Amino acid sequence: MSSKLEAIGIAKRYGDSVALEPTDLAVQAGEFLTLLGPSGSGKTTLLQMISGLVAPSAGRIEIDGRDVTHVEPGKRGIGMVFQSYALFPHMSVWDNVAYGLRMRRKSREEVRAAVDDALAMVRMTEYAKRFPKELSGGQQQRIALARCFAYRPSVILLDEPLGALDKKLREHMQAEIRRLHKELGATFVYVTHDQDEALTLSDRICLMNQARIEQVGTPADLYDRPATRFAAGFIGHSNLLEGELDATRGASGEPILLAAGG
Ligand SMILES: Nc1ncnc2c1ncn2[C@@H]1O[C@H](COP(=O)(O)OP(=O)(O)O)[C@@H](O)[C@H]1O
Ligand SMILES: [Mg+2]
Repeated sequence: MSSKLEAIGIAKRYGDSVALEPTDLAVQAGEFLTLLGPSGSGKTTLLQMISGLVAPSAGRIEIDGRDVTHVEPGKRGIGMVFQSYALFPHMSVWDNVAYGLRMRRKSREEVRAAVDDALAMVRMTEYAKRFPKELSGGQQQRIALARCFAYRPSVILLDEPLGALDKKLREHMQAEIRRLHKELGATFVYVTHDQDEALTLSDRICLMNQARIEQVGTPADLYDRPATRFAAGFIGHSNLLEGELDATRGASGEPILLAAGG
C-alpha cells in the first residue's frame, strides 16, 4: 500500500532564521524520492514537517489529497527510520518490532504474524530473542527498519538511516533498502547528503541547498542536465565550462552550464 504525498508552500522559520523557504513538492504513490543536499540545507526540517514532528510556519501537507497539517504524527500512517536506531535496550528484538503494533492494540495473532513477517523481510528471524546490544550496527538498523515496516505504513520517511555504518555495510544496506521498497510498495522519502547513495537508490532526487529546492528530477536528469551551478557542482564529477554561447544564453542572462560525466 502506498500514498501520494504533497507539500504545498511548506515553510519553517526559527525566529529570524529560515530553515526552509516556502516549498512545493509532490511525491507519487510508491515512489522512492530522495532529499539530497549539504548539511543544513533543510532536508530534516522538510522531512519532519511531513511526519508532523515539526510544525510548519506556513503551508500544508496532504496525503492522498487529505490535509494532515494538523494531524498528530502517530495518526498520519507514516513510518520513520532515523540514523540512530533508537531501539529499546531492555527489550528483545522481537519485542522491539512488536512495540508499535501493541501500541496500536492489534490482536496477539496479528502482532505475531506481522512481527514474523517483518523480521523475515529484513532477514533477521533467527535474532528474534537477542537484545540490541548483542547485535552489530547493521543488524540494529535492520531491526529499526523491521519495526517501522511491521505496521505497514503507506509512507516511510528515512533520515540518513545508513549514516552510522561503514562504507561496505552501507552499500550492502542500500541494496537491501531498494529490495524492501519494492517488496513493501510503500512511498519512500529518503534523506542523505551522499550523492552516490541518492543516485543509486532513487526514482527521483530533490536537490536542496540553503533552505530551498535547487532541482527535482531523475538521477539522469540531475547528472546529465543540472539546472543550476550548484546542481552541476554537487552531482557527479562535473566540469563547468563557461563560454560565449550568446545564442543559447537564457533569458535571465545566466551562463549555460555544461556538465561532463566523469
Ligand atoms: N530546532 C531548531 N532551532 C533552530 N534552528 C534550527 C532547528 N532545527 C534546524 N534548524 C536550522 O535549520 C537549518 C536546516 O536544518 P536541517 O533541516 O536540520 O538541515 P539538514 O537536515 O539538511 O542538515 C539549519 O540552519 C539548522 O541550523
Ligand atoms: Mg538532517
